[in-house]
Amino acid sequence: MKILGIESSCDETGVAVYDGDRGLLAHALHSQVETHAVYGGVVPELASRDHIQRLVPLTVEALDEAGVAKSALDGIAYTRGPGLMGALLAGASFARSLAWSLDIPALGVHHMEAHLLAPMLEENPPEFPFVALLVSGGHTMLVLVAGLGRYRLLGQSLDDAAGEAFDKTAKLLELPYPGGPALEKLAEEGDPGRFRFPRPMTDRPGLDFSFSGLKTFTLNTVHANDGDPTARADIARAFQDAVVDTMAIKCRRALQQTGVDRLVVAGGVGANQALRARLREVAEAENATVHYPRLALCTDNGAMVAYLGHCRLAAGERADLSFDVTARWSLEELTEPRPAA
Ligand code: KG4
Ligand code: ZN
Repeated sequence: MKILGIESSCDETGVAVYDGDRGLLAHALHSQVETHAVYGGVVPELASRDHIQRLVPLTVEALDEAGVAKSALDGIAYTRGPGLMGALLAGASFARSLAWSLDIPALGVHHMEAHLLAPMLEENPPEFPFVALLVSGGHTMLVLVAGLGRYRLLGQSLDDAAGEAFDKTAKLLELPYPGGPALEKLAEEGDPGRFRFPRPMTDRPGLDFSFSGLKTFTLNTVHANDGDPTARADIARAFQDAVVDTMAIKCRRALQQTGVDRLVVAGGVGANQALRARLREVAEAENATVHYPRLALCTDNGAMVAYLGHCRLAAGERADLSFDVTARWSLEELTEPRPAA
C-alpha cells in the first residue's frame, strides 16, 4: 500500500509517501520558524494560513520525489490531533478532499502516536514491547508500548512539557525562537560546574515529571548574576543538565519497573544531543537498547504520519467521511487497529 501522510498540527507542514513494500519513499517539509520568530512563539492564525499555502506544493514535491502518481495512492493519513485547531483543520480538510477526489480512504491519526512510532522508520527498528519517552513542545510522557494502539501511560509532566520548559528558559536567556535548539547551542559553551539546578521529583518514587520550578530557578539565577556576560551560557548548561539528568533517572526507573529492555525516544526534544548521549549511557547500564529517529524525524514531519497511517490502513482500519479534529486527545484512548466490518 502507498500512503500519503500529512502533518499540520503546529508550525511545520510535512508531507510524505510511505510504501508498505519499499518503506519511506519521500518526505517534504516546510518549517514556519521565520514566520513566527518575530513574535517569539507560534501565532496560531498565521500557522493555519501558512499550512493552507504549503500543502499543495509540498504534496506535489513529495509525490514527484517518490515517483508516485497521485492516482497510485491507496490511502491518505493526516494528523487529527492533538494540536492547534486551525492548523489541524487545514491539513484535515486538504487530506479528506484529496482522498475523496481519488476515491481512496482517509484516516485521521494521533500526533503523539506518530512520534512514538517514528523510530520504526530507521534501521534496526525496536520490537514490541518498549518503553517510550515522548518529549515534545506540548507533551512529556513515559509510555509502555505493548503493540500498535496498546499504550499504558507510566508517567507524565504535571505542568510544563519538556520542550515548553526549554522554550520558556530560552526566552529568559533572551534566545530566539525556537528556544530548544538555541539553548542547546548556548549550553555547549557553558561551564557545567558553575551552577547546579534541582532535579525535580527524582527524590520520590514514581515516573511523573515537573519542569515549571526549573523556570523559576533559572529566572532567579539570571537575576542574581545580572551583569556577568558569561553567566548565560553557564545557566543554559545547568538547566539542560538538570532536564537531561531528570529524564535519564526516570527512564532508568521505567526500564527497571517494567522489565522491558528497549527504550524509544521521540519528539522534538529527542533531537537534543546531550539527552541522546545520556540515554545511551542509561541503556547500556541497564543492558537495554535505545532507539531514536534520525534528527529530521524527531521534530514534526509527515513521514511518521504516513507510517502510522500505513500501519492502521493496511490493518483494515477505516473511518467514515465525516471528519473532526481535536486539540486534546489522550494516547490511552487509542485502540488497536479495528478492521472495518
Ligand atoms: O515534536 P515537536 O517538533 O513539536 C511538537 O509536537 O510539540 O517538538 C518541538 C519542541 C519545541 O519545544 C522545541 O524547542 C523542542 O522540541 N526542541 C528541542 C530541540 N529541538 C527541538 N529541545 C531541546 N533541544 C533541541 N535540540
Ligand atoms: Zn510533535
